[in-house]
Amino acid sequence: MKGIVLAGGTGSRLYPLTKATSKQLLAVYDKPMVYYPLSVLMLAGIREILIISTPESVPPLRALLGDGSELGLDISYAEQDQPRGIAEALLIGADHIDGQPSALILGDNIFHGAGFPRILRAARERLDGCTLFGYPVSDPERYGIGETDARGALVSIEEKPLRPRSDNAITGLYFYDSDAVEIARGLEPSARGELEITDVNKEYLKQGRANLFRLGRGFTWLDAGTHDSLLAASQYVQVIEQRQSVRVACLEEIALRMGYIDAEQCRRTGEEMKNSEYGRYLVQLAETLG
Ligand code: TTP
Repeated sequence: MKGIVLAGGTGSRLYPLTKATSKQLLAVYDKPMVYYPLSVLMLAGIREILIISTPESVPPLRALLGDGSELGLDISYAEQDQPRGIAEALLIGADHIDGQPSALILGDNIFHGAGFPRILRAARERLDGCTLFGYPVSDPERYGIGETDARGALVSIEEKPLRPRSDNAITGLYFYDSDAVEIARGLEPSARGELEITDVNKEYLKQGRANLFRLGRGFTWLDAGTHDSLLAASQYVQVIEQRQSVRVACLEEIALRMGYIDAEQCRRTGEEMKNSEYGRYLVQLAETLG
């Protein structure tokens, strides 16, 4: 399975923070925002990852993550010159996807919860059509909402419904079989001129091949697209990390635990950053797990 992080957009709700930098490079407590979606793909066992961003933001993202080899990954980059919609990621990423199933995640989505690696692995193994991930929200009228039957098959997708039929918001993580690129190629832009990911999902729904996995109440899903949600995300990560002895979305730790890198690589990366808590955490990890 191939991975894509869509990390472009204008980030206009965060202006002036994002006038000169990408939203996905902003801090969520102790690490750049893009680490969080990247960690999800890594936990799903995906190592070939394309990061799509604006022409201005690809160079700093590349400076941050390089070719991925320090994380045992193969990371490549592509540009989206205008925010023409989330589904455009499937067209920009068509060569990268190369006829395989794919996992697409939005660069400002943060997932955290016990058992997530197992959920991701199971969703990957059982993938037939598309699998979306639903999260119960208190304000469903602000989201794309998915209604499911008892078996988890999707029966409807509604965008920002006035009278929601369910409280399951469709999050920014999408698993697709190898048909997604072809479906995206057939899309017409919406009224706002974008290729909408919901139209890809609705096509799978029409074919009876759309599933929604409900992330339970013990799970956290945040997006960090506004000043308040960005601060809330930072505070969430701070609380967890200060209370527990483990970190959220520490890419080197995931790489080490998944067997993508060895302890020596983890220690080297840690040494380079040893003035920070994050760097010292990596050195410590290398000793404990090495
Ligand atoms: P949004 O939050 O919908 O858009 P945005 O990031 O441009 O922010 P704003 O609404 O404040 O202007 O996008 C969600 C995520 O998807 C975000 O990580 C950016 C990414 N995205 C793209 O990379 N390209 C696109 O064409 C769109 C629509 C979104």
